[in-house]
Amino acid sequence: MIAIDLQGKLIAFEGIDTSGKSTQARLLVKRLSGSGLDVVSTVEPGGTSIGEAARAIVLSRPGVHSAMLPFSELLLFMISRAQNTHEVILPALQAGKTVVVSRYRMSSEAYQGYGRGIDLDLVRDLNHHATQGLRPHVTFLIDISAETAVNRKTTEHDRIEIETLEFHRRVRQGFLELSALDPNAVVIDGDRDLGEIAEDVARYLQV
Ligand code: TYD
Repeated sequence: MIAIDLQGKLIAFEGIDTSGKSTQARLLVKRLSGSGLDVVSTVEPGGTSIGEAARAIVLSRPGVHSAMLPFSELLLFMISRAQNTHEVILPALQAGKTVVVSRYRMSSEAYQGYGRGIDLDLVRDLNHHATQGLRPHVTFLIDISAETAVNRKTTEHDRIEIETLEFHRRVRQGFLELSALDPNAVVIDGDRDLGEIAEDVARYLQV
């Protein structure tokens, strides 16, 4: 269990595609706002005009930027994170608000590190600079199997969604290993009813 006071705290949701993390982030924002907290909600990649521009390139339709190197992909996510941290997240935290972010530093370690095979130390170094050293107060990993993710997927829109089952398995394994090493990470079984998952999150935060 963690402290109840969430003012000036960053809460991150992580998970593989279709894990339901964005829905859970939304439900938590609603719950926290309902309890009177001033909450800012943001997403990565995105959240700022520069972040949205990076998102348009990095999550382009398959075939549009087929020459993209894994390293370039990593940098595009970092551009988004650096701007989002500087423009949105840090000012909100400094003003005492609670920030809920859908994806943050762990996504790059899982997708670009474990998924694409980029050296994890490099990903961590870039994360450190992009976040100005900021770490989430809590990271909720909404965990589902790669098979469940593939079965849940109805349409595939972008360069990363079309990746193989094997890729998504590596990413999921990465999330689990990274969470096991992170004392502020909480793994939640995402293969359940939305409401049950939301209750777990709320119980953990004591809200
Ligand atoms: P997201 O916007 O969360 O899409 P969805 O809600 O459909 O899962 O994430 C977009 C994609 O970007 C997703 O496939 C994961 C990927 N991603 C990375 O590979 N590295 C990163 O650092 C981030 C933030 C996202």
